[in-house]
Amino acid sequence: MSATESEPVHFNPLLPGYMEDPYSHHAEVRASAPVQNIFERWGLFRYDDCFQLLRDPSMSVEDRNSDILEGERAAQADAVAESLGVSPERDLSMLNVDPPDHTRLRRLVSKAFTPRSIEELRPVIQRLVDEQLDTVAADGGGDLVAQLAFPLPFDVITEMLGMPDADKETIKIWSGHMVKAIDPIISEEEMRLAFESGIEMDAHINKVIEWKRANPADDLLTRMIEAEEDGDRLSTAELNAQITLLFIAGHETTVNLIGTGFYELMRNPDQLSVWRDDLDVAVNAVDELLRYVSPVQMSRRVALTDVEFSGVEIPARAFVLAVLASANRDPEKFGADADQLDLRRASAGQHVAFGSGAHYCLGASLAKLEAQVALTSLVERFPHATLAGDPIWNGRINLRGLESLPVSV
Ligand code: HEM
Repeated sequence: MSATESEPVHFNPLLPGYMEDPYSHHAEVRASAPVQNIFERWGLFRYDDCFQLLRDPSMSVEDRNSDILEGERAAQADAVAESLGVSPERDLSMLNVDPPDHTRLRRLVSKAFTPRSIEELRPVIQRLVDEQLDTVAADGGGDLVAQLAFPLPFDVITEMLGMPDADKETIKIWSGHMVKAIDPIISEEEMRLAFESGIEMDAHINKVIEWKRANPADDLLTRMIEAEEDGDRLSTAELNAQITLLFIAGHETTVNLIGTGFYELMRNPDQLSVWRDDLDVAVNAVDELLRYVSPVQMSRRVALTDVEFSGVEIPARAFVLAVLASANRDPEKFGADADQLDLRRASAGQHVAFGSGAHYCLGASLAKLEAQVALTSLVERFPHATLAGDPIWNGRINLRGLESLPVSV
């Protein structure tokens, strides 16, 4: 039956098997109803539509411009906030504000993230990777998420910001609960945990700021605090929001690129050999893995005016989801072999895994460098790694990745 004759396929990330393989479901949706209304939002599944959405300056990233605030999910959030005795506050991180605030906030931190500043971190990253992999080698294997994919980006962003030593496990739990809140569907319990962890994280960041005021150094936190002390460049609430964003975005995404990336290489041994036999493929290979695993599977905007995607009218104030993971596997963009991992793919760099336009990922160079160093070292040192147990998925629809990847080397 052709797509026109059949019922449209509705996007449903709660389907059994979705965590292991969201892509075959995306493909069905993309072929059948690539622009559709789901859970009070509009979903876009084609590359061209997602690209247009992300680059459209008339799109907002501020939820308050959306009717979703009156919807079911907003009511759920209000109920949880009320039961905890807090009021849901506007998120002032750059990811969630429009120009001119966005421009000012992004400019304040962007110098630390230029490709040149990032390249200077290469020796630090290589040392961290070598240390972790020495342990894996000595033990004959281990969990590559717990031992490499998680601690590497966490330690690098901690170092860049100049955060004090803190209990990594506790922070990992808070940040895991917080990022669950950006899934398109969550339970009331998950919403409650996200709120509670947000409150804990907020208190922690406030303590970090106080500590750093007393212990300034040559780091990003000190530079941001100076901007706040300057008065009109950054408010205290904005300072707190940018630190939280950088800290969380700095590790909750790259972990998935490295963890799921290596898993996909293990599942595609011919591609692992391509990398091992030609280490110069690393730059293109990481772009191809970004396309293939989309560590951030979706991104959202609010339409400020009526707008059309693939012939479908979307009204002003609608909440629109760009399903980046689907865009990155769209055969109209990447060809009939879009579902194949091909580390030499010429168009790999055209993925939208980092978004596009004004909010294009600020940490893209950092994430790519971390993945190039980590995965090149893994491929070089453990080309014959085998699974030592079932990999466990993290249960997140948006920041999809592995919770653990047990291997023998
Ligand atoms: C593989 C790893 C990563 C992926 C896939 C990723 C993905 C993304 C995406 C898709 C966006 C845009 C969201 C939108 O348009 O709505 C974004 C924004 C952002 N990312 Fe990343 N990211 C990664 C790593 C990082 C790292 C390491 C940092 C470092 C701190 C970072 C910091 C940010 C920031 C600050 C923004 C907001 C930019 C803005 O609003 O102007 N990301 N990221």
